[in-house]
Amino acid sequence: MAEPATRDETFPLLRTCPFAPPPAYGELREAGPVHRVTLQSGQEAWAVTRLEDVRQLLTDPRFSSDRFNPGFPILTKTGRPQRRRFTASLINMDPPEHGAARREVVGEFTVKRMKALQPRIQQIVDEHIDAILAGPKPADLVSALALPVPSLVICEQLGVPYADHEFFQVRSSTLLNREVTQEARVQAVEELQNYLDELVTAKEADPTDDLLGRQILKQREEHGDVAHDELVSLAFLLLLAGHETTANMISLGTVALLENPDQLEIIKNDPGKTLDAVEELLRYFTIAEFATSRVATEDVEIGGQLIREGEGVLGLSYSGNRDEAAFENADQLDLERGARHHVAFGFGPHQCLGQNLARMELQIVFDTLFRRIPELKLAAPADQLPYKHDSSIFGLYCLPVTW
Ligand code: HEM
Repeated sequence: MAEPATRDETFPLLRTCPFAPPPAYGELREAGPVHRVTLQSGQEAWAVTRLEDVRQLLTDPRFSSDRFNPGFPILTKTGRPQRRRFTASLINMDPPEHGAARREVVGEFTVKRMKALQPRIQQIVDEHIDAILAGPKPADLVSALALPVPSLVICEQLGVPYADHEFFQVRSSTLLNREVTQEARVQAVEELQNYLDELVTAKEADPTDDLLGRQILKQREEHGDVAHDELVSLAFLLLLAGHETTANMISLGTVALLENPDQLEIIKNDPGKTLDAVEELLRYFTIAEFATSRVATEDVEIGGQLIREGEGVLGLSYSGNRDEAAFENADQLDLERGARHHVAFGFGPHQCLGQNLARMELQIVFDTLFRRIPELKLAAPADQLPYKHDSSIFGLYCLPVTW
């Protein structure tokens, strides 16, 4: 086995262009499938660069998702999170607990369930576009559309009052920010968890017809009581993952479409192609690339490299999504390429639970936005927009548009 190459750069590497991965990803991928890298915290980890190997990493049960394992690669400045009362959410769990916990809720996210939500999502999108058209120019598409649409949808689905949106949006944004202090992060987590703790307690007294209320009734029927702390942790994960991610894809996707008018024409001319376009935009931006890290629980060989038990691995999903071996002209935005094998939603047992919801929201937003405001344009140059380089999830803080 060849000596692994060690890289000088400190991970996470940042995007220097909003439409492309950090330039070193391409060099790393060319140089080999697996590299030894250093993280901001000083910790060492392996970086897996090719799509096929990222998929293997994410499906091999010998790799763990437990963020509290001392070998798990931590990409924030503040270091490893501490185990707290409400931390056993799906994303941190391993088999067999993970599969059992996921089966409890997977029925809430089926394609059929999402289809039933379609008219309501369409209504929410239309109302927000009505308000944009009635309001001043330029408008900020993030606060006027990209953030409220997925926030409202996940609130209604979970049974969280949307009136509290500012409270949870501010705290979510703080805890996703990789640059904040440990104190600020802990405070944001605790405030959000206390809020959801109270909400779940209220629903236990009076179960409402929403995801949390239905989980309470289901658990009482099947197990006799409610796993309160686990439900609070689940609500926390869903609320966070349910709005920040999709919001960023809406704003980035809009910029990419406006910057590539020939591509935008494709979906304007045939909305039947929007779903494929959404897959390509997901691949093109891979906004949650840091979610696909793991730690080895046994010695495992991946891409010809031996990873030892206890060592951390970064599954570089953004690199995998630009792997020429999997996507021809991978750096090009090509809405018609059929990009379904991307790993922007992860892969394997932890693959995004909300992907059907995210796809539907993105499809409805892009179709409706460009149909109702066909002359939409950026009100600032794309390279001067405030991109979220400091967040665990890439996106935009605001997006001035006019028409
Ligand atoms: C997991 C990305 C939207 C809920 C994941 C993972 C990724 C991801 C990469 C895999 C993490 C891993 O491998 O450990 C995205 C992107 C989204 C999106 C790019 C939008 C464009 C959503 C939405 C929801 C959601 C709308 C909720 C309604 C979840 C949950 C998990 C997850 C619960 C954990 C699943 C598990 O560990 O079994 N997401 N997500 N996501 N996502 Fe999403």
